[in-house]
Amino acid sequence: MSRIVVISNRVAVPERAGGPSAGGLAVAVNAALKDRGGIWFGWSGRITEEPSDAPQVTRHGAVTYAVVDLKPDDYQEYYNGFANRVLWPVLHYRLDLTEFYRSDLSGYIRVNRMFADRLEKIIRPDDVLWVHDYHMMPLAKYLRERGHANRIGFFLHIPMPPADIIQALPQHGATVGALAHYDLVGFQTEGDRDNFSGYLETRGGQMTPDGTGCDIGGRRVQLGAFPVAIETAAFARRARHASRTRPVKALRESLMGRKLIIGVDRLDYSKGIPNRLDAYEHFLRTVPQWHDKVSYVQITPKSRTDVPEYQEMDRYVSHKAGQINGAYSDVTWTPLRYVNRTYSRSVLAGFYRMADVALVTPLRDGMNLVAKEFVAAQDPADPGVLVLSQFAGAAAELATGALIVNPHDTEGMAAALPRALEMPLGERRERYARMMRVLETRDIDRWAEDFIAALSPPPARDPLHIPLPRAALRSVHLPGAWGRGLAPRGA
Ligand code: F6P
Repeated sequence: MSRIVVISNRVAVPERAGGPSAGGLAVAVNAALKDRGGIWFGWSGRITEEPSDAPQVTRHGAVTYAVVDLKPDDYQEYYNGFANRVLWPVLHYRLDLTEFYRSDLSGYIRVNRMFADRLEKIIRPDDVLWVHDYHMMPLAKYLRERGHANRIGFFLHIPMPPADIIQALPQHGATVGALAHYDLVGFQTEGDRDNFSGYLETRGGQMTPDGTGCDIGGRRVQLGAFPVAIETAAFARRARHASRTRPVKALRESLMGRKLIIGVDRLDYSKGIPNRLDAYEHFLRTVPQWHDKVSYVQITPKSRTDVPEYQEMDRYVSHKAGQINGAYSDVTWTPLRYVNRTYSRSVLAGFYRMADVALVTPLRDGMNLVAKEFVAAQDPADPGVLVLSQFAGAAAELATGALIVNPHDTEGMAAALPRALEMPLGERRERYARMMRVLETRDIDRWAEDFIAALSPPPARDPLHIPLPRAALRSVHLPGAWGRGLAPRGA
């Protein structure tokens, strides 16, 4: 069986837990590699003046982690600049927040070429490469230019907007258009996939009659929707155990019998936190009978703090949270607890289980695993209610059980709160059961299996003879390249 090499900007090396939160991507890749084993390559999270040419390698269980440092200019132009001030807002439909500089695009391309150079030291011709997310869109192109004919797949964790929006991105052919160099491009939803097909057609691509592939630039790229998922059963277990832990008990005691509304999001404008606070304020203003009977805990670790739009969001949300508490709290009740700390997934699992309502109301989100984790964490006998934005990828799967809201409709979101808080037990159970059925059928193992199966080379007719394309033969590495470059540290 071929080795799987996962490539992503963030790599969650176990010993570095406690470093910057790697979010949903790390959770998904960890789960996909845990039993299957493989290599996980990407940025170390460190910035150094003179990074070494060879990846730093460690091994934990079945997974080998190979990471490289970035230079300060690379970090600034590739990560803060092009990835987070151009691709992120454009792909989240926020052209108004896009700050494009040609120097940042050059930095993005330079770092992707550097990743291709470093990766060359690691890969074998029969490895299957699985690239994740918008930081590495042109990577396959640079590997192909170097003669690598491996099967290479790409999965986009964030949304893909319609062609009109992509075309507003200067030189979009060099980034989004470069996705045509992969064998398989996967999206969170069918809507995202269709948007990308539409974009490829504007570039002369011809869709196959069944709509699953596109012929473009003399090659075929397969397209598919692979909604990212969670380890449903394991997360449910984690939540059951977590309810007995200290932080979870402490939160329960502090509520003094009040109901709990919870929100957990990175501090990011895509999450719609200001809209959510407006809705909560509207609820407090219009439904005074809930005063002193509910607490809303919004857990929001800071993120991308070097990027001006995130600093602005930080100031705005802190100010707004202060205003709400100033207006509605009294000496014994704080309606909103706004927390910029990071909690472990186990503690969060316990918080979710305790919560009566979760507010997952992004303005745009690829999937949003908080929505899925909240559901999996519930007590089936007394489940909480998920209030979910129609613009989260998760809504495509959970709409039959969640209360679906439009985050731009403050009054509509506010009205969902008493509805959720007062929902009869029977209805809560039915809604929970419908969502759990989806999460149990399509869990993280299925996600990884489906993607890898779609990406893997078709079986050769004669099992004793697997012809390799010429380009692949050119790129065969001497055995020493693997041995030198990837010996586990301390091995
Ligand atoms: O989900 C999108 C994403 O960029 C992931 O790649 C990552 O897990 C998360 O957001 C956190 O972002 P960053 O790596 O910039 O801290």
